[in-house]
Amino acid sequence: MSSSVNVAVSRRGILAGGVAGAALTSVSTGASAQTVRPQPQPTMMKVSFEVNGTPRTLELDTRTTLLDALREHLKLTGSKKGCDHGQCGACTVIVDGQRINSCLSLAVMHEGDKVTTIEGLGTPDDLHPMQAAFVERDGYQCGYCTPGQICSAVAVLAEIKAGVPSHVTKDLTARTALTVDEVRERMSGNICRCGAYSNIVEAIGDVAGLRTGATA
Ligand code: FES
Ligand code: FES
Repeated sequence: MSSSVNVAVSRRGILAGGVAGAALTSVSTGASAQTVRPQPQPTMMKVSFEVNGTPRTLELDTRTTLLDALREHLKLTGSKKGCDHGQCGACTVIVDGQRINSCLSLAVMHEGDKVTTIEGLGTPDDLHPMQAAFVERDGYQCGYCTPGQICSAVAVLAEIKAGVPSHVTKDLTARTALTVDEVRERMSGNICRCGAYSNIVEAIGDVAGLRTGATA
């Protein structure tokens, strides 16, 4: 008898102890949840560059890509975010004459640079010849890839003119030839989900004075 009472008491004690322990745990968990831990603050940095001929200075989180600086901070939304991983070319802009994927480049790396976006190439009333050629040749359907395609195309012609070789350049000692193959190869980083490729090549060919019809 006394043994069973002892056991019962003992069980109640264990149960009571368990509840109290759980309560204490809860309090202590609640207390720790309320503990304010200092959050790491983003590192901010000032960057000054020229965008479409206008000097701009921004105070940016150093992790900001050039694409986000253009789109989110300067509201230049012509450059598009297709993949944000350097795979589609929709974000292509021209920096100091060279095309880059602006989603892969940190804005703070461009101190003093000259950045040209699609908005800086031409206006609706005064199109850049490449923009006019894309319109003329129907070089787009949805248009999402088009700003990147046009910026890329403008820089591609400058690359060929400057003698920069590509993967399909046959003779590295000769002057780089302006051919349809060169254009296609150099534009291969600009993806068009609508598949307007043949029209895009024709548009670039028009500006370059290439006869694309027979070989495209
Ligand atoms: Fe930059 Fe796709 S968004 S390459
Ligand atoms: Fe639609 Fe190129 S025109 S993705």
